Amino acid sequence: MVEPLLTTRGLSRGFGALKACDGVDIDIRAGEIHALIGPNGAGKSTFVKLVSGEIAPDSGSIHLLGKPVGTLPMTARAGMGMARSFQVSALAPSMTGLEHVVLALLQHRGGVFHFFRPIARDTGLKARAEEILARVGMLDRATIPVAGLSHGERRQLEIAIALALEPRVLLLDEPMAGMGAEGSARLAALLNELRGDMGILLIEHDMETVFALADRISVMVGGQIVATGNAGEIRSNATVQSAYLGDAP
Ligand SMILES: Nc1ncnc2c1ncn2[C@@H]1O[C@H](COP(=O)(O)OP(=O)(O)O)[C@@H](O)[C@H]1O
Ligand SMILES: [Mg+2]
Repeated sequence: MVEPLLTTRGLSRGFGALKACDGVDIDIRAGEIHALIGPNGAGKSTFVKLVSGEIAPDSGSIHLLGKPVGTLPMTARAGMGMARSFQVSALAPSMTGLEHVVLALLQHRGGVFHFFRPIARDTGLKARAEEILARVGMLDRATIPVAGLSHGERRQLEIAIALALEPRVLLLDEPMAGMGAEGSARLAALLNELRGDMGILLIEHDMETVFALADRISVMVGGQIVATGNAGEIRSNATVQSAYLGDAP
C-alpha cells in the first residue's frame, strides 16, 4: 500500500483540564480529499494548528511524507510540502493579491533554489502568480489591495497563497466560511480539480458539500475521532448519527 502523505498517531493537546485533541489518528492519502467534521468545539481547528506547527502537541506523532515533523517549526513543515489556509485571515491589508502570491512563490523557491537574478526582471514569477490567481478565480481582482476585497475573495486569495507553495498536503479550515453560494461552488470545483495533485484535509460544516467532495470523512467529537470512512459509511454509522449527525439542525 502507498504510504499516506500525512499521518498522525495519538496526537493530543489540552488547554488546562480540557482535552481539545485527544489521541487523534488520521491519515491523509495522496489524491484524496479527507474531510474532518464535527460539532463546534470538537477540536478540528486545534488539530490543524497541531499539524501545521502553530501550536505544540502534548503527545503523539506527526509524519509528513514519512518523516517526523512534530517538533519542526511551521516554516520547515511548509518547506516540506505542507500548506494551510487560516480560519481567521492573516493577510496584509495594504498588499495586493498579486503581491501576496509573488511573495509566497519567492518564499517557496527560496527554500529550494538559489536565485541570482533581480526579482523585478523575473517575469516568469509574475506570470506564475497570475496563473495561480486565475485558478482560484481572482485574476481580475489581482491588483486590488486586500482591504478592498470581500471576505470570500480573501479566502480565495488565501488558497492561492497556499497553492503557490506547491503543497503535497493542503490543510483547509472552513475555507468556505463567509463565502456566498457562487464562491463556495467555485471553491468546491477547484478542490475537485486539485484532488489528484495532493492530499487535502477539508474542515467544512456544510454536510452537502462534504458528502459531495470528500473521498473519506473523519468525524471528531470531544477531541476524539469517532469514525472514519467514505460518505456511505459515515451516513450509516450509528455512533456518528447519535453523536453528531442526529444533532445537526
Ligand atoms: N488557545 C486556546 N485556549 C483555551 N482553549 C482553547 C484554545 N483553543 C481552543 N480551545 C478550546 O478547545 C476546544 C476545541 O476548539 P477548536 O479546536 O477551535 O474546535 P473546532 O474547530 O472543532 O470548533 C474548544 O473547547 C475551545 O474552546
Ligand atoms: Mg474551528
